[in-house]
Amino acid sequence: MAGMKIRKAVIPAAGMGTRFLPATKVMPKEMLPLVDKPLLQYGVEEAVAAGCDEVILITGRGKVTMEDHFDRAPELEASLERRGKLELLEAVREVTRLARIVVTRQSEPLGLGHAVLQAKEIVGDEPFCVILPDDVVTHGEPCMKQMVCAFEKTQSSILGSEIVEGDAIQNYGCLECTVDADDPRLLRVTDMVEKPKPQDAPSQNAIIGRYILTPRIFQLLEELKPGAGGELQLTDAIKALIQYEKVYGYRFKGTRHDAGDKFGFLKATVDFALERDDLGPAFREWLRTRNF
Ligand code: UTP
Repeated sequence: MAGMKIRKAVIPAAGMGTRFLPATKVMPKEMLPLVDKPLLQYGVEEAVAAGCDEVILITGRGKVTMEDHFDRAPELEASLERRGKLELLEAVREVTRLARIVVTRQSEPLGLGHAVLQAKEIVGDEPFCVILPDDVVTHGEPCMKQMVCAFEKTQSSILGSEIVEGDAIQNYGCLECTVDADDPRLLRVTDMVEKPKPQDAPSQNAIIGRYILTPRIFQLLEELKPGAGGELQLTDAIKALIQYEKVYGYRFKGTRHDAGDKFGFLKATVDFALERDDLGPAFREWLRTRNF
């Protein structure tokens, strides 16, 4: 595997998005916008910034709007051109040029591990990255790019990781790990515990929705028995991977928003709006007029 490059990103987006019902009854959660850009587009842009040229989108029934979003829209484009709305026209076209989007379906949402397994044939025998679009990370150097740099050194699977405070660890996969002697952001993973009781958590290092995985993960996913909730859990396959290969955690630089949760989504919306040149100043003023 020496010198392997990460060229392909898998974006699982076949879940049911139950936490956002009824909004997600017919609209994919991954198409919810932070201000005016869908969560999914942030994920694709991050994959491209990390050097990927192919994005494998795992979709499900009733979610075709996601692939349409990355396709040309001739009538819309012609109308924007006629009306001289050239900035919007560019924004619409830019989306179609981002990457080669390959779509495959997960026929039933049987868990994140099962969703990733659907990409097996398309990924083939090379390491790849996984980006969960509802975790949105902001930093000048995009999160997956940081992880790809770490992969270039380790040539091993890497899990995006963040230190969480106090009891919050019970909501995450948790790493049992030691800090690398040369790079304090790199963690050598010895085991993983899914959603531990706070008193049983081996560390405060939580796994978030960013992974670089070696192709052996597919074989392990195929051998896996359904875990919690009858689903194929990606973390169970990664636990098995640790028996065969080195696995690292990587404490990325940046801020993570859990946009798959209503409270996290609201906070992300406010932060993203405040950052915008066109909206930020007026939005900040308006927020000041609210009597919190
Ligand atoms: P989540 O658990 O956050 O998404 O999965 P969900 O299940 O759609 O949301 P809730 O909990 O019901 O509100 C993280 C990512 O993995 C995808 C989801 O689409 C989301 O992008 N996923 C999850 C799949 O593609 N397939 C699955 O079986 C489960």
